[in-house]
Amino acid sequence: MTDDGYIHGTGAPEQARLGLMNRILNEGSLRELAVRPGDRVLDVGCGLAELTRAIASAAGLSGRVVGVERSREQIEAALALAREAGEEGLVDLREGDALRLPLAEGEPGSFDVVHARFLLEHVRDPLAVVRGMVLAARPGGRIVLDAALDAFEAWGRREDAAMWFAMACAEGVRLTGALEGR
Ligand SMILES: C[S@@+](CC[C@H](N)C(=O)[O-])C[C@H]1O[C@@H](n2cnc3c(N)ncnc32)[C@H](O)[C@@H]1O
Repeated sequence: MTDDGYIHGTGAPEQARLGLMNRILNEGSLRELAVRPGDRVLDVGCGLAELTRAIASAAGLSGRVVGVERSREQIEAALALAREAGEEGLVDLREGDALRLPLAEGEPGSFDVVHARFLLEHVRDPLAVVRGMVLAARPGGRIVLDAALDAFEAWGRREDAAMWFAMACAEGVRLTGALEGR
């Protein structure tokens, strides 16, 4: 975790690793997300947007899915993958920082689901990111956080994990799967 960088980098080997991880995990992530047709979804730190495209397929033509990613390289690779899959235009991909979400007029407070997978462990202030996500969601919307807690702990960031858990619980976020009972 660095201020302006990203520990895994965005080179070809990392993009291949991320692709493999998506192929292994996306089915389970989609199940937990339980996106419904028509949902408006914001995916923060969307990387290559493979899961974001799967979310958009679940939301269907009446849904709307925005992906935010800070790295230009990731966005270019995400667009190339979408083209290859014949899924251009499925997701509105935006370059931007999770701490200053690039939302248009009327979008704050409008999303049914605001999601981040494997992002919080890479930012210095995960709580600030979660707060921004909460502001992006509509009243009664869902915030879905998926993070590698072991990475928080291994990198000496146990405190941060505790902080964002507190925030998540305060906002009524439902913890599922491996996170239950931690
Ligand atoms: C491990 S990848 C996960 C990508 C995607 N969420 C997934 O699960 O496939 C983390 C991504 O977060 C992006 N990222 C890191 N810090 C960010 C920030 N502050 N704002 C937006 N994106 C960020 C990185 O560039 C990277 O693409």
